[in-house]
Amino acid sequence: MENMEKNMNFYKVICDEFEDFLLRSAPKIEGFHPHFQEAFWKMLECGGKRFRPKLLFCVVCSLNPMLARNAFVPALALECLHTYSLIHDDLPTMDNAPLRRGNPTLHESYDEVVATLVGDGLNTYAFYLLSTARLDASVRVQLIKELAENGGIGGMIIGQAMDCYFENKQLELASLELLHTYKTAKLIATSLKMGAIIANTPVQLQDALYAFGLKLGLFFQIRDDIIDVTCTSTQAGKTTHKDTEKNSYVNLLGTQGAREKLKSLQDSISKDMEAFDERLRGHIANLLKGYFE
Ligand code: IPE
Ligand code: IPE
Ligand code: MG
Ligand code: MG
Ligand code: MG
Repeated sequence: MENMEKNMNFYKVICDEFEDFLLRSAPKIEGFHPHFQEAFWKMLECGGKRFRPKLLFCVVCSLNPMLARNAFVPALALECLHTYSLIHDDLPTMDNAPLRRGNPTLHESYDEVVATLVGDGLNTYAFYLLSTARLDASVRVQLIKELAENGGIGGMIIGQAMDCYFENKQLELASLELLHTYKTAKLIATSLKMGAIIANTPVQLQDALYAFGLKLGLFFQIRDDIIDVTCTSTQAGKTTHKDTEKNSYVNLLGTQGAREKLKSLQDSISKDMEAFDERLRGHIANLLKGYFE
């Protein structure tokens, strides 16, 4: 028990150190653009829950704590890619949202060209970061493959494409589940898997964490669909009441139906966690406390 407590404190220290590391890690951009440098890191500096890096740290801190600080760069890569996805998601051509992480979106404070190119830059910078991490070359290549697949055409990108294409075209529930899996759950699943790859765990555990992450990611997006209808923009820190034309769990099942689905996923996630080792279960349970009701 004492050991668990020590490991939990270590995890907290790592998350705090990571936040400092992130804020200090804006790359120096050459050229003479008057504000691109400032715009590039702005959305990372605005905050966010850092859910994906934290999932990665849950795994590394519990299974191979010696490598926790070597995981900062891969965790930053994840957060860069995720932040890029939000910047593009908010563009007028996609969800057209003026508020994100409690601040005006980049296309509001600058313009659409800057927002588009910051997104592009964060996307490629994520892979630059992975290539430079203090980890074995074979581990770096596996991480690059995971993030490219799940954050790219095998995951987030095709999910976002389907999300926008099927606006005002109602999908069956099974298709909506798949859409949410692609656009959100795969990146969340890979956050856990990347942690397992860094920690040098057997492939079976990597796969089990990925499968668990898909369920958690679906939970996360359904919860987000509920936030869209139940929270004000100020409460959420992002523009809400935006999903009227979308396929969302709320639009398909009603708010109550979406809540019931969320609760049943929560129960199933809790049950799956019983199979994890004590430290991993402790870390993930602690992180999910803020998300479970
Ligand atoms: C928002 O992601 C987009 C979804 C996939 C639901 P987060 O809820 O993780 O946003 P931040 O990172 O905390 O801003
Ligand atoms: C976005 O889903 C998922 C991404 C891949 C960015 P949403 O469009 O529901 O995310 P929010 O509600 O704008 O954060
Ligand atoms: Mg969207
Ligand atoms: Mg959106
Ligand atoms: Mg949403």
